[in-house]
Parts: sequence; C-alpha cells; structure tokens
Amino acid sequence: MASSTGILDKFKETQEEVKEVKSDRKLKVAIIGCGWIAEAHVKSYIKCPDVEIVAAADLIPGKAEAFFDGLGFDTEKLRFYPSHKELLDTEELDAVSVCTYNATHAECTIYALEKGVNVLLEKPMCVTLQEAIEICRAEKKSGKVLSIGFQPRFDENMKMIKKIVQSGELGEVYYIQTGGGRRRGIPTPFGTSFIEKETAGLGALGDIGCYSLDVVMNAVGYPKPLTVTGYKSDFFGKSPKYSNKPEYVDIFGVDDFAAGFVRLEGGIILDFRIAWAMHMDTPGDSLIFGKEGGLRIPSTDCWNGSVGGPMKIYHDVAGEQVETTIPILNNGGKDLFDMKIRSFLDAVITGSPSPVPSSQIIYNQAILDGIARSAELGKEIEIEIPEI
Ligand SMILES: NC(=O)c1ccc[n+]([C@@H]2O[C@H](COP(=O)([O-])OP(=O)(O)OC[C@H]3O[C@@H](n4cnc5c(N)ncnc54)[C@H](O)[C@@H]3O)[C@@H](O)[C@H]2O)c1
Repeated sequence: MASSTGILDKFKETQEEVKEVKSDRKLKVAIIGCGWIAEAHVKSYIKCPDVEIVAAADLIPGKAEAFFDGLGFDTEKLRFYPSHKELLDTEELDAVSVCTYNATHAECTIYALEKGVNVLLEKPMCVTLQEAIEICRAEKKSGKVLSIGFQPRFDENMKMIKKIVQSGELGEVYYIQTGGGRRRGIPTPFGTSFIEKETAGLGALGDIGCYSLDVVMNAVGYPKPLTVTGYKSDFFGKSPKYSNKPEYVDIFGVDDFAAGFVRLEGGIILDFRIAWAMHMDTPGDSLIFGKEGGLRIPSTDCWNGSVGGPMKIYHDVAGEQVETTIPILNNGGKDLFDMKIRSFLDAVITGSPSPVPSSQIIYNQAILDGIARSAELGKEIEIEIPEI
C-alpha cells in the first residue's frame, strides 16, 4: 500500500483562533453550583483581567463559602446564596457559569436567561429534549449569549476532524461510527451526583456520550437527527462484584453503557456506543466513511473525549489505495478550558454568536434523549423538534 505526501498540505490553512477582546469594564460573573467542575471555571475566570467573580450559590449550606475559601478568595468580598434563584433575584450580573449537576441545568439556565444574564452552561446541555427546547426558547426570548461547555471543541485535533470533513477530502459522508469507553470508569469523584437518577438523569450516555457525539456531529455540520433505536444498561453500576464503590450499588440509577443507531438528515447513519464500564478495552475507534475517503479517529483506552493517536485518512490517489497519517497536533500550550471560558466572554462583550451554540447542541441532546426513550420503549422512535 502506498503512502501519500503533500495531501496534508490541504489542511494547513489557519486554525480558528480564540482572540482576546479588550473591554474597559469588568464583567460581573457568578458561579451556580460549587462542586468539582466549578473549580476549573473559577481558575479560568481568574486569568481574565476583565472579569470579577462577585457571587456564588450552592444548595448545600456552607459549600459555596468553603469552596471559595479553599481557592484562596477573600470570602468577605463575595456574596453567597442558597440556590440559583436567590442569587439571580438579588445580583446584577453579566454572566453566570451553570456548574450544577445535569438535573438542574435547565431550571438554572432558564431562570438566568429570564433575568437577562448570559450563560455558560456545563455539558451535557440538560437531561431531556423537552428541557433543551425550553432552554432554547428562553435563550431566544432573552437575546443573551448561551454557550454549552464543550471544551474539546477548542482542541486542534478536533478542529482538524472538522476541517478534513469540510474540505471535501472524504466526499459525501454516509456512515459514522462513534463513541468510546472505559473498562472501569464510573465517575464518583466527590460523591454520587453522576450516578443518581435524581441528580444526573443520564449516565455514561449524557456524561461522555455527549462529547463523542459532538466530535462527529460538529464535523458533519450537525444534521438533524430523524430516528433513533437505542439501548442502555447498568450491569456494572448495579453489580457488587464490578462496581468501583459497592456501597453505591443500591443508589446507582443511571446507565453505564448505551448504544444507538441514528438516522440523520442527509442520509447519514450514525452508529454510537458509550461505556463507563465494560469487559473490553475499547468499543472501537471513531470512523467516518465518505464516498471518496474514510477517516479513522483512534480511541483512547480510558475514554476521555480526546483523540487517542494519529488519525488516518484512507483514500485512493492516482488509482492507488493510500493512507495519510495526520500527526497529533498540540494546542500551543493553550488550555482548552481557558479557551472555552474566553470564547464565551468574548461573545458576551462583542454580542457575537455563541461559540458552542444551542442550535447545534439541541440535536446532540435530541440523540441522547432519543436513545434513552427508545431504550425504555424497546423500539425505534422518531425525533420531533418544534420550531423554537
Ligand atoms: N466540562 C467538563 O470537563 C466537565 C467535567 C466534570 C463535570 N462536568 C459537568 O459539570 C456539571 C457538574 O459536575 P460536578 O462534578 O461539578 O458536580 P458536583 O455534584 O460536584 O457539583 C454540583 C453542585 O451543584 C449544586 N447545585 C445543584 N443544583 C443547584 C442549584 N439549583 N443552585 C445552586 N447549586 C446547585 C450541588 O449542590 C453541587 O454542589 C455536570 O453537569 C457535569 O456533567 C463537566
């Protein structure tokens, strides 16, 4: 089999950059939900000279205060609230980060938008498609910026996947296999909010499934999902033998594995599987099949949403079957989380479109919701999304 040189030059155009926008005024920002991921938000906001964190809320008494104290803040200078509601009723804010568990994403985001506050919402967008529709309606009514927290979008390797597809090198895409998995990786870092139905709503499907869908859906331009056949199971989370925390077996209320077969507008088939735990190293690489070429995106063993090795394009050049290897790209020392926060702030300051818009992520949520509902019903379902 021959190998091609020069083909990589096609993808060497300038990468999309996150540019810093200058502003004379400090943006007033608050954090809703002071758990694990809130720390990454705060650390990125601190690096922005045009941001002042003024307030925070958490349902657990004293948690927000302890969180900011632990990060070295002078807590006398901040205001703390027992929920998103009191915070948004009281404060005059430019923006909030919604860092709550999935089940309260919708209520916090909708309330903030209704109060005229720009929102950076953690992933997944929410739990159900209906919630996503309501979020989009509130966003439209408010005219504010809503960005969803998909930091892998800013990774040069992820951008390369999109550039390859959009360059036409693969021709018309007709089939996609995506997903990822961990042999053992049910997340219980600081408690049970990822595994309880009441707080997480969705398990592996929502937590890491949303990322793997975004990689390929973003690359092919987020076509509308039409029908879904879904499957989900909880064999590891519910097993005293295989659960990483046997004391959590009784409260495990979500999926630890999910799979789906999705028909997308434009005739593309999406074959998806995601696992927090399984008797396997990986459920396979992500593959994009086009009429002129195929792209292999290697998976990582303990799947974390990144590209697991050099990608390969399989195509014919001058009648020869050729493989072009795309070396792993680095991000020039830039932190993906910093870029996610900065891109949101810049959209707020300039009034430019959201960097990770709900108009795309609603389709991501529709697939997650479709897989969950189809699995519960035991049959294929049609996805219906009304005009927003
Ligand atoms: N982008 C990433 O890399 C990444 C990584 C981890 C988690 N996340 C996402 O971030 C979200 C939070 O995850 P986590 O691990 O920080 O969870 P967590 O359980 O550690 O923290 C969530 C906090 O939100 C608080 N909360 C819930 N509803 C609230 C409300 N209405 N008002 C105020 N506080 C409220 C809870 O009391 C809790 O302290 C999840 O949706 C998760 O998927 C994203």
